[in-house]
Amino acid sequence: MVDRLPIDDEAPTLRTARYFFTRLISRKRHRMSSTSLVSRLGRRVRFGIIGGGLDSVIGGTHLLALRTDGLADIVAGAMSIDPAVADASAAELLIDPSRRYASWQDLLAGETAREDGVDAVVVITPPQFHGEISMAFLQAGINVLCEKPTTSTAADAAEVVRVADESGALFTVTHCYTGYPMVREAKELVRTGVLGRITLVEGRHAAGDPGVLREPEDSSKRHWHFKPSSMGKAVVLGEVGSHAHNIVEYVTGQRVIEVTAQLTTIAKRREIYDNAYLTLSFSDGAVGRLWSSFVAAGNEHGLAFAVYGDDGSLHWDQESPEYLWLRRPGEAAIRISRGLDSTSEASQAATRIRPGHPEGYIMAFANIYRDFFSGVLLRLLGESSDEAVRELPTARDGLSTIRLIEAAVESHDRRSPVEIVL
Ligand SMILES: NC(=O)c1ccc[n+]([C@@H]2O[C@H](COP(=O)([O-])OP(=O)(O)OC[C@H]3O[C@@H](n4cnc5c(N)ncnc54)[C@H](O)[C@@H]3O)[C@@H](O)[C@H]2O)c1
Repeated sequence: MVDRLPIDDEAPTLRTARYFFTRLISRKRHRMSSTSLVSRLGRRVRFGIIGGGLDSVIGGTHLLALRTDGLADIVAGAMSIDPAVADASAAELLIDPSRRYASWQDLLAGETAREDGVDAVVVITPPQFHGEISMAFLQAGINVLCEKPTTSTAADAAEVVRVADESGALFTVTHCYTGYPMVREAKELVRTGVLGRITLVEGRHAAGDPGVLREPEDSSKRHWHFKPSSMGKAVVLGEVGSHAHNIVEYVTGQRVIEVTAQLTTIAKRREIYDNAYLTLSFSDGAVGRLWSSFVAAGNEHGLAFAVYGDDGSLHWDQESPEYLWLRRPGEAAIRISRGLDSTSEASQAATRIRPGHPEGYIMAFANIYRDFFSGVLLRLLGESSDEAVRELPTARDGLSTIRLIEAAVESHDRRSPVEIVL
């Protein structure tokens, strides 16, 4: 997890200037093209979709993101718990009738029996099914992209880590927000020591649009996002808090190792906690806070982070994702724009369009898909995928989030801090 360079004793202002200047003069203009992997292999990734059907919230977003780079053909689907919806969803994608499956078990059996079976699947079901489905495909040697949170329990998430390691197949969690170029830039600024020693970390995913703020009068109209069925009463931490947790661990390169939590139910008729304030300790000595909410009235998406070091701080908000702010004491703030020549190779690689032409959410999500498909194509070519998948959220990252959620519930119940064993 920790991937940071030693902090030199150069003056912070000079260190910052050197960061941008070095990247300006060493910018690599010819990056590996993922489409060349397709032409070298002579075909695209054969891809299957589990969940994410016409009856889902997030399935349509996945379709936009996964088609962006043209690296995969959708050849199989078990796209709903309802067989009729599964069939209709797969038919809309022109999936061959013989590969429109009524269940993920049928898809696994059908595809592993074919010469031209799927190379990879995405799991877009509610969380309580993620672990079982992912592990079954990994054990068959099929690469898996899985929606967050990885599982409902830390015991299952640890099993996913073990099975993924043993299988040798690729496992990635779709924490799509780490696909933003400016989030990758923030990680590089921290890694190279521009902020100095990291001291304070603030993450929030506090939503408050009408869809999450209130409970319907008729409880049969309630989405599982607001029921304890998927992962208990702390589902707000799985649904929104997991993104904020993942993003601050990604940017800082530190794990959360202790949590004190206050979990609250604010909305009338609600069965789950809908607000969570967590106080955190990080593995390299930073302290911080994580705010997850469905009741931050008036907030739209509400995902943002700030990271403070001895020499300055970084600020990013998902609703203005093109800009990362670097603030240093006593100096004018620096607004870093996506795509500038002075930004890092990692963020340049995630940038598709010239600066000033906003990219946004789908492109960030597409970066996760592009890195994942590139990894799968390289493996099919018999080559190392390590570089291609370097930025992707792993099974261990997913486990870290589930451990935090379980520790937060324990802390709330005990009214005391709880250590998280790494
Ligand atoms: N990355 C993001 O930004 C983001 C955003 C929203 C949701 N999510 C995650 O995506 C997942 C799905 O969320 P959603 O809101 O779309 O849920 P949803 O309930 O609206 O849709 C779930 C889909 O899975 C299908 N399904 C359920 N059980 C299944 C099974 N056993 N086999 C096959 N299909 C099954 C349903 O029929 C439906 O098509 C969740 O893990 C959620 O946390 C991620």
